[in-house]
Amino acid sequence: MAGMKILGWGSAHGDRCVSNEDMKQYVDTSDEWIRSKTGIGQRYFAENKSNLDMAAEAGAKAVAHLTPEEKSEIDGLVVATFTPDMATPSMAAEVAGRLGISGKVMTLDVNSACSGFVYGLVLANALMSSGFRRILLIGSEKISPMMDMEDRRTCVLFGDAAGAVVLEADPDGEFEHLEGTEPNHDILWCDRFDPNIRMAGQEVYRFAVSAVPECGEELLRRAGRTVEDVDRYIFHQANMRIIRSAVRKMGISEEKCFLNVEQYGNTSAASVAVALAECLERKEIKRGDRMMAVGFGAGLTYGGVLMTI
Ligand code: ACO
Repeated sequence: MAGMKILGWGSAHGDRCVSNEDMKQYVDTSDEWIRSKTGIGQRYFAENKSNLDMAAEAGAKAVAHLTPEEKSEIDGLVVATFTPDMATPSMAAEVAGRLGISGKVMTLDVNSACSGFVYGLVLANALMSSGFRRILLIGSEKISPMMDMEDRRTCVLFGDAAGAVVLEADPDGEFEHLEGTEPNHDILWCDRFDPNIRMAGQEVYRFAVSAVPECGEELLRRAGRTVEDVDRYIFHQANMRIIRSAVRKMGISEEKCFLNVEQYGNTSAASVAVALAECLERKEIKRGDRMMAVGFGAGLTYGGVLMTI
């Protein structure tokens, strides 16, 4: 099916860099445990920034790549997040206000935890097939206030960040997608009124090491592509071991797989967004390249896209 081009990109993160050593002030842990189990070396906490601040910062950087005319033709603004600052208005409407985007633009939030940004790409592509022209898609999370800082099994894993892209309909582009949900409330959740993330880590791990490569392989089959046809792989940056396992199972060359989990930890819906923005910024992916992005998370959900950019 027809695809999308990326016209602009940007990212932002929390204002306080917290190393694994720093995490020892909260819980009994070590740099060695965190690195060997997850690949995480540090994360950012947004102490003096709201989720909206980070989303707007990333969004403004993405929009700065556009001409004023292109900016005036943004007709969709979607924010993927499970940690909005407010129940309403939506983060998307608030970002529109910050960026001076108004008028005939649809603004909405997507809540699908770590699959959120990939689902946002699917949604954006579907909207374009029904006439939308240009969509600002942001993945943004402020997870630090949702963490139990006395639970070492979870608090070392997450961080705060935002990533954004401006997408434009591309009739010559390629787009394949796959989504799935295996409802399970009990192994990963966060109650709105008792906002501490709870997770049965090993069960999420088991889900992810099969869901990610299965999703990737099915995407290749559907698109009639081989693993070598893809220029860049971006998996949800939750855990280096999960990513390495998918890379091994799928037979991907390691240098094609983008990694930044060491710098940010797991930033949920922001993870694939930040990785994609960093890839573009460093010119590690360019116009016309084919990329695969796969997310997974609470729900449990998973989703992937295989697209030219
Ligand atoms: N520092 C030191 N020791 C720790 C820490 C820590 N931060 N956390 C746990 N431990 C200890 C435990 O207490 C336990 O010790 P015990 O046996 O004496 O009780 C031991 O380490 C092993 O704990 P497990 O929880 O069994 O460790 P596991 O090998 O499963 O690794 C991890 C935990 C890294 C969380 C792993 O299960 C994992 O990566 N799961 C997937 C999680 C994930 O990807 N979540 C995100 C997806 S969804 C989303 O992003 C919202």
